[in-house]
Amino acid sequence: MTVFLNGKLLPAEQASVSVLDRGFIFGDGIYELVPVYSRVPFRLDEHLTRLERSLGEAKIRNPYSRAQWRSHIYQLIDAQPFDDQGVYFQVTRGVAKRDHALPKNVEPTVFMMSNPLVNPPQAQVEQGGAAVSAQDNRWLRCDIKSISLIGNCLLRQLSAEAGAAETILFRDGKLTEASASNVFIVRRGVIQSPPKSNLILPGITYDVIVELAAANGMPLEFRAIPEAEVRAADEIWVTSSSKEVLAIVELDGKRVGDGRPGPVFRRMHQLYQEFKQKVMRAGKREAVSA
Ligand SMILES: Cc1ncc(COP(=O)(O)O)c(C=O)c1O
Repeated sequence: MTVFLNGKLLPAEQASVSVLDRGFIFGDGIYELVPVYSRVPFRLDEHLTRLERSLGEAKIRNPYSRAQWRSHIYQLIDAQPFDDQGVYFQVTRGVAKRDHALPKNVEPTVFMMSNPLVNPPQAQVEQGGAAVSAQDNRWLRCDIKSISLIGNCLLRQLSAEAGAAETILFRDGKLTEASASNVFIVRRGVIQSPPKSNLILPGITYDVIVELAAANGMPLEFRAIPEAEVRAADEIWVTSSSKEVLAIVELDGKRVGDGRPGPVFRRMHQLYQEFKQKVMRAGKREAVSA
């Protein structure tokens, strides 16, 4: 496996980072994951915009220009022997003597790897998946895509142990998101999701869903959604770069709607696949809108 570390492509076995790296010591870093279809990265500019925002909020120096990021990412994609990829990249604050206060004049550490992209299997798309729910006990800056993911990992473990696809989170009686995805519900034909805030990650897939709904005349509303309304929803979806859009047909062992992926989901899933095809056909790594 060829990975990227601080400006160089090299075999994963030869890539090493100091034990004093603040990513290792404090989880002090941010990351992105970009899906790549047929070697064409999907929404790369939007991912880079979010990366820049996360770095700014975390007060970590951005070591590269937009053009440098693009070039390093393309080189990493080209170095892999498979076409559909999930490019993961992270920037940590760098190596320094252990001290909570932020060190001055440190060089950020940049690591990137690309794995074969794993989207939900066709059977799961057609039949939907199960979810469990939990209280959202993470910090209050969920808008920063931080590598400190112990909260998300412990929450995801609850659904993993239940054999479910996701853990849907509620804070103060309202829907936030899921352990590694955003959440939409459908009630009486209206697609609904919590508005962007410090309580959720501003998902790139969330934005694609919103654009596709708007471009295709599908009613959509952003609002604080009480837990009871999620449990009474006709449809629940989770969205992320790897899950794309997936129907949740069972929540905490109870059926959602009639227990099958609903008609609004099926339409959105179709639109999403068509949009992906459009991006791939446009091919040469340019921005395409819905
Ligand atoms: C907590 C959380 N929310 C939402 C998402 C979805 O974001 P995106 O659509 O950009 O993949 C993710 C993806 O990793 C996530 O970890």
